[in-house]
Amino acid sequence: ATDKKVAALLAKMTLEEKIGQLNQYTGDRITATGPLGKPIDKVQQVREGKIGSLLNVKGVAETRKMQEAAMESRLKIPLLFGLDVIHGYKVTFPIPLAEAASWDLAAIENAARIAGKEAAAAGLHWTFAPMVDISRDPRWGRVMEGAGEDPYLGSLIAKARVKGFQGAGLGDTAAVMACVKHFAAYGAAIAGRDYNTVDMSPRLLWEVYLPPFKAALDAGAATFMNSFNELNGVPATASSYLQRDILKGKWNFKGFVVSDWNSIGEMVPHGFAADRADAARLAITAGSDMDMESHSYIDHLQKLVTDKKVSIALIDDAVSRILRKKFELGLFDDPFRFSNEAREKKIVNAPEHKAAARDMARKSIVLLKNENGLLPLSTDKKIAVIGPLAKSKTDMKGFWSVKWNDEDELVSLYEGLEARVGKDALLYAKGCGIKDSSRAGFDEAVATAAKADIVVLAVGETFDMSGEAKSRANIHLPGIQEELVKALHATGKPVVVLVMAGRPLIFNWTADHAPAIVYTWWLGTEAGHAMADVLFGNYNPSGKLPMSFPRSEGQIPVYYNYNNTGRPSSNDKDINYRSAYIDMPNSPRYAFGYGLSYTGFKYDALNLSTEKLQRKDPLQVSFTLTNTGKYAGEEVVQLYIRDMVASVVRPVKELKGFQKIMLRPGESKTISFRLTEADLSFYNNDLKKITEAGTFKLMIGSASNDIRLEKSFELIN
Ligand code: IFM
Repeated sequence: ATDKKVAALLAKMTLEEKIGQLNQYTGDRITATGPLGKPIDKVQQVREGKIGSLLNVKGVAETRKMQEAAMESRLKIPLLFGLDVIHGYKVTFPIPLAEAASWDLAAIENAARIAGKEAAAAGLHWTFAPMVDISRDPRWGRVMEGAGEDPYLGSLIAKARVKGFQGAGLGDTAAVMACVKHFAAYGAAIAGRDYNTVDMSPRLLWEVYLPPFKAALDAGAATFMNSFNELNGVPATASSYLQRDILKGKWNFKGFVVSDWNSIGEMVPHGFAADRADAARLAITAGSDMDMESHSYIDHLQKLVTDKKVSIALIDDAVSRILRKKFELGLFDDPFRFSNEAREKKIVNAPEHKAAARDMARKSIVLLKNENGLLPLSTDKKIAVIGPLAKSKTDMKGFWSVKWNDEDELVSLYEGLEARVGKDALLYAKGCGIKDSSRAGFDEAVATAAKADIVVLAVGETFDMSGEAKSRANIHLPGIQEELVKALHATGKPVVVLVMAGRPLIFNWTADHAPAIVYTWWLGTEAGHAMADVLFGNYNPSGKLPMSFPRSEGQIPVYYNYNNTGRPSSNDKDINYRSAYIDMPNSPRYAFGYGLSYTGFKYDALNLSTEKLQRKDPLQVSFTLTNTGKYAGEEVVQLYIRDMVASVVRPVKELKGFQKIMLRPGESKTISFRLTEADLSFYNNDLKKITEAGTFKLMIGSASNDIRLEKSFELIN
């Protein structure tokens, strides 16, 4: 029925009106200037049917104003309102990479659902999320927005986020359309430099970079965004291979593709299009349906059609895809169905959303080190709260959060601790700024530490040091912060270091010397409360790293699922004529999947249903997990496989399953996994997914570098 409605409307549209539907402008400056310097009255253009969608207009009042203008257009086609609601709308959740560290799919889905619900209550229809780009490069600032390095974990998180944002599906006014981005391979930008070239084998693309996109699509993602990078010489925006052959062809995607911001126009500096007209032709031909802010479609498509350089069928297909979504959202029945002030007031910033954000934040924290059970802290100690981020509120929100004047709403570490133990138990000194080179504040910090029983030190990055266009060649703890760690450590007081950042950072001295290290990322609105929950043991940390943490930038890319090579270094000392560095180990500082708890877990009694597996049969795997410590806690048990010999070399480990298990002290549980042939398959160089008979090693552990149980089995024919 929707197809008929789309066709009927299309039949009434002029070419100009059709092209208007493909045009998306930013609405934050209502009258702004286009790329050629000409002023644009966007309200008037909406009335004239020249705009199909606006981004960056938020709130019921603002969206309503623009939608009213759309209702004055000849065909009254409603506008779509999109915004980067990446980790929350008003209530801000941890950055996506932090949420990924929870390995808690239900919590991640819930976080996206709340973000979607708030956004939809504020008149929005569409979020430019989730970002599902796999990345092995922490120099790339946008790692903060994804789920890390692993395609298996990344795919499950992509699915959870799409389901969360889209709620009961298009038409649900408590949800928004998802936009899966950036299609594709953006996370593999050479040297981690944003927008940079990507050059990779098709097999790597299919095996590592595409799976989260497919998972998101299978979860019902309504839209996709293409990407800034070129892939093997062709900008993704002009890639028919990606958009037509794979996405709309093989994967049968029925939604629409929006370009990234001016990614159509940027094909000129790429050296792929002669000018914006050429870029428009290339992009529409390749399947980019909507032009975000390059003005190329609105300025050039009409002539391209008239000159027969672009067929009307291409335009009709793109327009139909966009109209279909507008119908599915119910906007033709009621263009204002997302515009209700009372609902906006009730839902945005609701207390229960803050409670969920706090829970998600606690789950996202990763305990990296805890010598002699220094943590959790008891509440009767005098605490010196020190560091450039100890009282920061703004930085807690992280990059890609929606902008508000909401300092009051954000909870700093200091405030979180104060809420728990009271002001009198706390002392404070800043010590230094994030990027300082002066040690002027060290004396005061050291003197403050001397008066306390314990130091809680907050270091890391400001919110604008990881994110889009925030690539860094040096990802060490910035400035002299590690010097501050040393100065405080020298006081002899126990120092608990909290690292707040948007990416894996390098802090080798701290890793070697500080007795306790907690990686908190940027945790959002409720950051301080969540950190206090973990520091005082009201929540037992359960996070595991979704990305490897290098020892040095020189190791990048460092990732757990590498190939063995012909000269593997069997341990970090065995380096002579080996695939190794002569100046440092191959291994990362902290491995993928790593994270501690206040309790301990024992793994035993691994059992496989068979050691000779038929292809059609599933492999049943079970083992016993026991909480051996004195705290209740959750463990993320991880299952990895290795295909020992194959026609294409397979990685030393591939994650194929995980579960997050809660156990009381002394409690044991039998944990079961089920593997099927699909879990043992891989892409060969003809891009065929195959499974080969032979020996597989199955490994169960607490981290990719902490395998506790293993057994082999044979796949027979
Ligand atoms: O959604 C983003 C994208 O990820 C990067 N460029 C701008 C878009 C819209 O803000």
